[in-house]
Amino acid sequence: MNKKLIIGNWKMNKNEKEIKSFFDSFSKSKDLNSIKCEYGVAPTFLDLMYTKELFSKNKKMIIASQDAHFEKSGAFTGAVSYQQLKDHGINYSIIGHSERREYFNDTDEVINKKVITLIENDMVPILCVGENLKERSKKKHFKVVAKQLHYDLNNVNIEKAKNIVIAYEPIWAIGTGKSATSEDAIEMAKFIRQELKTLFNEEVAKEIKILYGGSVNDKNVKEYLSNEFVDGALVGGASLDASKFIELLKGAN
Ligand code: PGA
Repeated sequence: MNKKLIIGNWKMNKNEKEIKSFFDSFSKSKDLNSIKCEYGVAPTFLDLMYTKELFSKNKKMIIASQDAHFEKSGAFTGAVSYQQLKDHGINYSIIGHSERREYFNDTDEVINKKVITLIENDMVPILCVGENLKERSKKKHFKVVAKQLHYDLNNVNIEKAKNIVIAYEPIWAIGTGKSATSEDAIEMAKFIRQELKTLFNEEVAKEIKILYGGSVNDKNVKEYLSNEFVDGALVGGASLDASKFIELLKGAN
């Protein structure tokens, strides 16, 4: 079985001092060697390089960005391009997080361009999909997720598609403490795998990692990951504290 993947999404949190103290307590942990899963964190653009340098001796730590622009360079005030990230050794980017979709107007069209660009440049998009509470209560969640997948993965090169990571994040479970049940997560992971077979093929669909995200913490992580369908987690709040994050990573083994 593939190793589980856990990415901590730090969102718009932490300054250098806080990152340094995260690093100190993370690196000193006696449990570090017992962590078997793959793991990483996604700081703000501003702190990507600082975090990367701090963790330079930890070959396992993936440093991911929270977004990436699909143009190589140009007049896009406030944005950071995939090429700039790549030049700095940042090869993973969270794409289409629900907060980006809601507050920054990242449409499926834009998200699709980002996914294609990253894949073409041998980078790893962590594509977020998921329904809101209204859609869930109307039982439209499968329909919503299928639509996002079909838009966001349209025209992705099948030869490289296995590098994509999908994060199923029901919006109603993000930062609310109201996590979905493990049955909800497994049910959706199976559905997404099925959709990926239609979009690509069985072989590619098998390779793509499908994560769950939404109020995952050190206490509930095992529930989500002790099965063959959910390949990891995208974690917000519970990734901010190093000792809690370590506990969470241990739970993902
Ligand atoms: P949360 O956030 O773990 O704080 O719910 C998850 C996410 O937004 O990726």
